[in-house]
Amino acid sequence: MSKGFLVSIEGPEGAGKTSVLEAILPILKEKDIDFLTTREPGGVLIGEKIREVILDPNHTQMDSKTELLLYIASRRQHLVEKVLPALAAGKLVIMDRFIDSSVAYQGFGRGLDIDAVNWLNQFATDGLKPDLTLYFDIEVEKGLERIAANSSREVNRLDLEGLEMHRKVRQGYLSLLEKEGNRIEKIDASLPLDQVIEKTKQVLFDRMGLTR
Ligand code: TYD
Repeated sequence: MSKGFLVSIEGPEGAGKTSVLEAILPILKEKDIDFLTTREPGGVLIGEKIREVILDPNHTQMDSKTELLLYIASRRQHLVEKVLPALAAGKLVIMDRFIDSSVAYQGFGRGLDIDAVNWLNQFATDGLKPDLTLYFDIEVEKGLERIAANSSREVNRLDLEGLEMHRKVRQGYLSLLEKEGNRIEKIDASLPLDQVIEKTKQVLFDRMGLTR
């Protein structure tokens, strides 16, 4: 049984989750909270190697099921090597993407069977779910505009997908939100960044039972 607290951060492209996370970290440090931030795919050496294979823009031949299985493989390794030990040590673990990304991107986005995606997630995680998922919601066009405006961001294979795929991904997230509203908190990421940060802080602290 884990003693820590697991938070995943999710959203379509350009929702700004990374910027929000960067702003939250100093606040957690100030409060002396023992935390770990990490990302998927990647987070550990084997995971980062899998990440390179998945996201390489030259890998245009990659089949959707291959893509799903690589994300799942990276998830398993990352969980066992990094996330579970941190939770066992009682840390707050904040993951930039987790199980819901596979449902939204490979399930809804690529059109793979949702039950199969759920089963593979369950297999890779032994059923571990986040205590809280912060879902940063933004309209697809607005998110992609943000990415286009941010020239320093590395472009990956998934970014190069068309509008249609990104629309399905957002639909996927909204459908997860409908089903798992207790775990998933929606944050309106179209608001100005300082408001998004404030809201994130509020939700996170409330759910962890901390004073703000
Ligand atoms: P990343 O550069 O980390 O993008 P972002 O800043 O949007 O998180 O690349 C991760 C990409 O991988 C992103 O496009 C979402 C995608 N992804 C999936 O399609 N399925 C998954 O299971 C995960 C974890 C990520």
